[in-house]
Amino acid sequence: MTSLDSAHPLAAGLTAASRLVRSYQGEHQEVTPVWFMRQAGRSLPEYRELRVGMRMLDACLDPAMASEITLQPVRRHGVDAGIFFSDIVVPLKLAGVAVEIQPGKGPVFERPVRTLDDVKRLEETDPASMDDATFAPIAEAVRLTTAELGETPLIGFAGAPFTLAAYLVEGGPSKDHIRARTLMHADPEAWSRLMAWTADISGAFLRAQVLAGASAAQLFDSWAGSLSLADYTEHVAPASARALSHVRDLTYAVPVAPPHVPLQASVRQDGEPAVRNVPLVHFGVGTGDLLKAMHEVGADAVGVDYRTPLDEASRRLGHVVPVQGNVDPAMLAAPWEVLAPHVETVLRRGLDAPAHVLNLGHGVPPETDPAVLTRVVELVHGWRP
Ligand code: CP3
Repeated sequence: MTSLDSAHPLAAGLTAASRLVRSYQGEHQEVTPVWFMRQAGRSLPEYRELRVGMRMLDACLDPAMASEITLQPVRRHGVDAGIFFSDIVVPLKLAGVAVEIQPGKGPVFERPVRTLDDVKRLEETDPASMDDATFAPIAEAVRLTTAELGETPLIGFAGAPFTLAAYLVEGGPSKDHIRARTLMHADPEAWSRLMAWTADISGAFLRAQVLAGASAAQLFDSWAGSLSLADYTEHVAPASARALSHVRDLTYAVPVAPPHVPLQASVRQDGEPAVRNVPLVHFGVGTGDLLKAMHEVGADAVGVDYRTPLDEASRRLGHVVPVQGNVDPAMLAAPWEVLAPHVETVLRRGLDAPAHVLNLGHGVPPETDPAVLTRVVELVHGWRP
């Protein structure tokens, strides 16, 4: 176990009692916390203005800009968390992989990884050599952000090994990730080495964010829904567990509640302080069949996409796992009279789990009217069962 620095927002008592952190730790909150995947980004005019003439990955590695973009949706919507503005391919770029993010398309790689020799070329960068200096722009952006966020937690994130491998092997976005799934079976050695390498790269990226001040961490396995449960369990889950193991050891002593926050079970009452781990969330798209396996790799909470109702997801998780989700992003463009009851249904179904963090079932579509997101936050914060 490794204790976070005493100045870390969790250890210093700033965020440990927040609705978000308590929910991820399984404590039901009277007011359901809410944030949105891709809340920072093109739906916000202030984001589009800031990004003019700046490439995506350059923006991610500019600490002042990454911090400002992270803060924009928190200020505007009053959400319960910031999600660090970065991208799942940032640690690959820091490892020396030639990658760009093309607007409207996504990550594109100069050289796809298709053979064992290609994997060996990646391995020339030893993930263990990626140190504080490598991640300096990330850590600096996190520090700037948490200094502004105060009692609002920052969520760090990374891409899960399969989703990263799906991009690396294909060389860019793909529909069914066919080449990656072929490699998994055709060359198990190349596959397992590729998965181990990406796990360590993503794990190091995640750890840098948490050590610098993130109060929770989410692993995105966006494309895991293309896998059968058998393939996921055998060829992917061990690598995802390995990625999470880079942050699984991080703990903090539960601090005394700030004076204006009522005492809860998560807050020290007397005697020795309880020790807790930094909460970890695991999310994928189309992963209804994988939810239990995704929890078992070492996550505290599971993100659910819009296809599986939350009560059903909770049932599959044995009713003991906090869930996050799962408003259908398509509903954001529907009239309020359609959207509001949908959000209320999601909130009601979320009661089936020990705790619920409201989110979308995938990212905010770029054309979303940001006023609608603010209104959803108000609805969620005002809702009582
Ligand atoms: O608000 C947030 O959620 C924080 C930041 C964030 C980004 N990417 C910023 C971004 C997060 C958490 C990601 C993760 C990410 N990146 C995932 C996993 C989550 C998911 O959506 O499933 C994936 C698959 C990627 C890869 C990626 N990067 C894609 C598919 C795209 C979209 C390409 C496009 O233009 O439509 C990106 C680019 C990207 N990452 C943007 C943002 C805000 C858009 C770039 C821009 O605004 O120019």
